[in-house]
Amino acid sequence: MEKFRAELRRFIADLYEGEKKVLVFGEGCTGARVMLVGEAPGEQETLQGRPFVGKAGRNLDEFLALAGIDRSQLYVTNAVKFRPTKVSAAGRTVNRPPTQEEIRLFLPWLRREIELVQPECVATLGNVPLRALAERRVAIGDVHGAFLDCGGVRVYPMYHPASVIYNPALREAYRADVLRLAQWLRANDGQGAKC
Ligand code: URA
Repeated sequence: MEKFRAELRRFIADLYEGEKKVLVFGEGCTGARVMLVGEAPGEQETLQGRPFVGKAGRNLDEFLALAGIDRSQLYVTNAVKFRPTKVSAAGRTVNRPPTQEEIRLFLPWLRREIELVQPECVATLGNVPLRALAERRVAIGDVHGAFLDCGGVRVYPMYHPASVIYNPALREAYRADVLRLAQWLRANDGQGAKC
């Protein structure tokens, strides 16, 4: 994993020469059964250098706890490893969704990361990581909570925890999806937890 990080750091530094891009790498157990993949780090993640530590992360932890899943059992990362930003009308630096170009840029790195961790299942949070791995315009509303085969990778699409904050109507579906994932993990525990 250290080699992976060093290579990615060098790749981005060469590509964005002169621009300071702060990378937020994945964290967690490299033998994890489940790898969670979000969209991209936000302000808090960039400040702390860890994925999902802001508001969306707290929401995620709350749902994981409900299902009896602890973060220490997971590997958590993002499809895009730096914070996509823009300057708002008020002159503030704010988040923006990652561009297709940024998503494509990081996709081979995300695939390598999956190979390194070798999870039994990759749970995507929101449309960005789902579409990146599916390589088609699939909609989260149509496929959440069901396993998909994305080129040999078992993908479990879930809503993004931030979308649940902004749209409370999704809470129940989100809760059910996390519980279903926990149930699947218990039912397929043949190899035993690796972390
Ligand atoms: N924080 C992350 O690390 N990823 C997201 O997608 C959102 C918040």
